[in-house]
Amino acid sequence: MRITIMTLFKETIDHMLNYSIMARAKKNSDVMIDTIDIRPFANNKHLQVDDYPYGGGAGMLMMSAPIYNCYNHIKNQNGAEPMRVVYMTPQGKVWNQQMAEEFSKEQNLVILCGHYEGVDQRILDEIVTDEISIGDYVLTGGELAALVIADSIVRLIPGVLGKKESFEEESFSDGLLEYPQYTRPPIFEGRKVPDILLSGNHKKIDEYRREQAIINTLNKRPELLEKANLSESEKQFIDQYIENDCKKK
Ligand code: 6GU
Repeated sequence: MRITIMTLFKETIDHMLNYSIMARAKKNSDVMIDTIDIRPFANNKHLQVDDYPYGGGAGMLMMSAPIYNCYNHIKNQNGAEPMRVVYMTPQGKVWNQQMAEEFSKEQNLVILCGHYEGVDQRILDEIVTDEISIGDYVLTGGELAALVIADSIVRLIPGVLGKKESFEEESFSDGLLEYPQYTRPPIFEGRKVPDILLSGNHKKIDEYRREQAIINTLNKRPELLEKANLSESEKQFIDQYIENDCKKK
């Protein structure tokens, strides 16, 4: 997979790429992550990339032409292969794990980072296939958001994480939060590691962890349980747990 990030702030992205999971991705898998500075693609003498909005209003907009030239450069590089072109914007569809899984199957992904007050609508209409947000708040630019989605995609690609880590991924993909984990020492500030984890009985440990994952999800993100992959006996367990909880109160 090739991810190409179009940005006016290439250095900030490159810096992050060198220290995150993406550094490992570039080494250990066939993922390629390129960042391209939009500014050199400006077709004017001063390499101007932003201008005042027609109709007035605050701030500046990114102009169409530099983005379009940059996009065509990437398109030529990718040849005839299809590519998804994502624009990072708080107006977009809110990113989630399911979308990360879907996008991880693409051959070519291009991410456009907006800045200033946004970009000329016509370039969005012309080249963008997906508008994506990372949550209901406003960032100053799309760079951090682009890194967030790139990270969540890249870690799903074979070879990026170790075998063990990717296996653990699966235990999350059934829609539950993780179970709590413990390492040495066995007692910390009077708090004990649950006995069962020291028992060596792996069947019991797996059952315990599954139960803890369900309880964790129930307490912290109960709305996730509606879409989670649960057996009938697990659903009964949840009903029982809620009933007991109500009695306590
Ligand atoms: Cl993708 N971009 C910007 N600028 N702000 C955001 C966002 C994206 N997602 C949430 N807020």
